Order: sequence, then structure tokens, then C-alpha cells
Amino acid sequence: MKQYLGQTLLRTLMLTTLSVATLTLTACSESETAVAPEAAGPAYNTTLNMVDFMNLVLEPTADVLWESAGWVNSIESGYVELYPTTDEEWENVRRHSAMIIELGNALALPGRAVDNDAWVTYANGLSNAGILAMNAAAEQNQEDFFQAGAQLYSVCTACHQGYNAAVSRFASN
Ligand code: HEC
Repeated sequence: MKQYLGQTLLRTLMLTTLSVATLTLTACSESETAVAPEAAGPAYNTTLNMVDFMNLVLEPTADVLWESAGWVNSIESGYVELYPTTDEEWENVRRHSAMIIELGNALALPGRAVDNDAWVTYANGLSNAGILAMNAAAEQNQEDFFQAGAQLYSVCTACHQGYNAAVSRFASN
């Protein structure tokens, strides 16, 4: 272990003297170095700001779940069930549920998490809702899937309220 740490430090020293391009290449090929917390530079890429993270990553993923749960009743189309009807459609929502689990982790990353307290609780809540949705999708259980979607929604809302995020779509809840 000592030897490993020593090697890492040496490598870090060497890396800092290299050009940026070389450093990027080396970091990609040396996964050991990337994982070590002492390694040069941040271990995570948190370039994406919160607004982009929400609009471009989290919401489109959550929308796939919400648009697959419950029903709509309109004059034009009548009563329409939104639930998946084929194995492929269920697999698609299962896939997006898995993404929600990991997006909870992405929100909790050092450098992205706003604090180490309630923020992380909400981020974990997102992952937990994702697990429920994933299980329900695997069982093709409509009722459980609906409940998971509702839980997901309440986590979004709770975090937005807790952090005074101006999100009109979630404001009335
Ligand atoms: C851990 C906390 C947290 C969770 C969980 C969370 N959000 Fe957010 N969200 C924020 C914060 C903070 C902002 C405000 C960002 C800003 O304006 O800088 C935000 C903003 C947004 C916005 C508005 C972005 C804009 O254009 O201003 C949308 C849309 C959004 N969130 C969607 C969601 C959805 C959908 C979920 C759940 C699937 C969710 N968020 C869960 C913290 C969270």
C-alpha cells in the first residue's frame, strides 16, 4: 500500500510537469491514478451546472417514467392508459429507472452536492425511488410503478423547496 501511494505521488509529480494533452491521455489510460484521491486534479467532472443537469439530464429521464404511468382522459382521445404494454416498453422504463438510481449518485458527487446534509438525503431519495421504479418495471406492476413515480415526484419537489429552487412546474405541490 505504501509503495502504491509512493508511486501515485511520484506519478502525480511527473504528471504536473507534462502538457495538458498528455496529462489527459495518461489519466484516461491509468484508471488507478484517476481513482486515487491524492491524484492531480478533480476525480469527478462536474462541469455541468445545476440548471443543465436538471434540464438536460435529470428531467428528460424522469419524464420517461412519468409519461409511462397512470392514464389520461381527454375529449379528443378518450381514456388512455399510459402504462407500457409490451416487454420492450417495460424494459425501456426499467432502463430509465436504473438511470435515476445513478443520477441520484451524480447529484451527491463532491463538487456538485451543495452540502453534505439534506442535499445528500434528497439525492439518495432519488436513487431509492429509482430502485422502486426499477423493481416495479421488472415485475410489470402498474400500481407499484405509479407509486414509484409519485415518490420520485415528491423527492424532486422536496429538494426544490428545501433549496428554494425556482421551478414553476413543481411549485404548487
Ligand atoms: C438534491 C436536490 C434536487 C433534486 C433531488 C432535484 N432537483 Fe431539480 N433543482 C435543484 C436545484 C438546486 C435547482 C435550481 C438550479 C438553479 O437555478 O441554479 C433545480 C432546478 C430544476 C429545474 C429548473 C431548471 C431551470 O431551467 O431553471 C428543473 C426543471 C428541475 N430542477 C427538475 C428536477 C426534476 C424533474 C427532479 C426529480 C426527478 C429534480 N429536479 C430533483 C435541486 C434538485
